Amino acid sequence: MTTIEPLQQHFEDTIAHEHRIEPRDWMPEGYRKTMIRQIGQHAHSEIIGMQPEGNWITRAPSLRRKAILLAKVQDEAGHGMYLYSAAETLGADRADLTDKLVQGRQKYSSIFNYPTLSYADVGVIGWLVDGAAICNQVPLCRSSYGPYARAMIRICKEESFHQRQGYELLMTMMRGTDAQRQMVQSAVDRFWWPSLMMFGPPDEASTNTEQSMAWGIKRHTNDELRQRFVDMSVPQADKLGVTLPDTALKWNAERGHYDFGAVDWDELAAVIGGNGPCNIQRVAHRKAAHDDGAWVREAATAHAAKAAKAAQG
Ligand code: 3HC
Repeated sequence: MTTIEPLQQHFEDTIAHEHRIEPRDWMPEGYRKTMIRQIGQHAHSEIIGMQPEGNWITRAPSLRRKAILLAKVQDEAGHGMYLYSAAETLGADRADLTDKLVQGRQKYSSIFNYPTLSYADVGVIGWLVDGAAICNQVPLCRSSYGPYARAMIRICKEESFHQRQGYELLMTMMRGTDAQRQMVQSAVDRFWWPSLMMFGPPDEASTNTEQSMAWGIKRHTNDELRQRFVDMSVPQADKLGVTLPDTALKWNAERGHYDFGAVDWDELAAVIGGNGPCNIQRVAHRKAAHDDGAWVREAATAHAAKAAKAAQG
């Protein structure tokens, strides 16, 4: 009978040496549970995140813009699939994760509960939301759970394309008419603060960070990554010619970072709690898509059963 101690020790040594935990390795139940939580919610975020921009595919201003947006939204679906597959290596069931999402028992990123009111929002989501995703997810390429870290490497490469296409779209609009410049500024005003909220609550209110850092799941705290995102975005906003909606934004030479204003944590809590502008619509749309796809899943299951029976001869 193998006692737990040597297995626990091997797990801890693996984490301490910054090596990877793989699906067949022994792991504490708490590690498995938080990995399923984080990976599952990350996957949900990718799939729900297809909705806001998907609204603009049929209304893109040119064939080129439509093709770029189609490619981006399809990438997000692929990210969701990689991540659900990574969660399945931990024994999670994809259908069960989807049920938890539509029943509100698992979360997805707050940022996707805001409406996309103009085409400039597509550019701002690429620039700020995918930019925040890059800040948050590049460190996850070094996460201790192997399948998650490896999924992140490919996802981050695609996020870089997402961020660049958004920024280029905005650059083009800023060289356009006054109305286009106002459209961009309005989108920045609406998405700046919700983008900061993507990094999670402040460190002192983060219930998972300490343990996730100890297990090498997270490599930085929420506030550290939020600060990294602000420092990256301010010069980009200057180049773009937009104003970020925060009068407290100021370079602090002593800190070597930008100081910024207070985030509205009550707003984040409300949106996480299901009371954002689009929560009901986003989850209802996800549920309808899942229900509409039931016949495909049933057909695939029936086909697999028939093929298995034929193989048995
Ligand atoms: N939206 C929704 N829920 C959030 C949130 C947000 N912006 N920020 C935090 N939460 C939730 C957490 O999930 C946690 O709830 P739970 O315990 O029920 O899961 C609670 O609020 C407390 O937050 P913690 O800081 O303690 O939680 P974490 O340590 O898990 O940190 C996180 C939150 C930074 C989002 C972390 O889970 C993470 O890095 N996840 C992986 C990346 C990810 O999911 N990104 C989502 C962005 S979408 C995306 O990248 C798609 C791209 O195409 C744009």
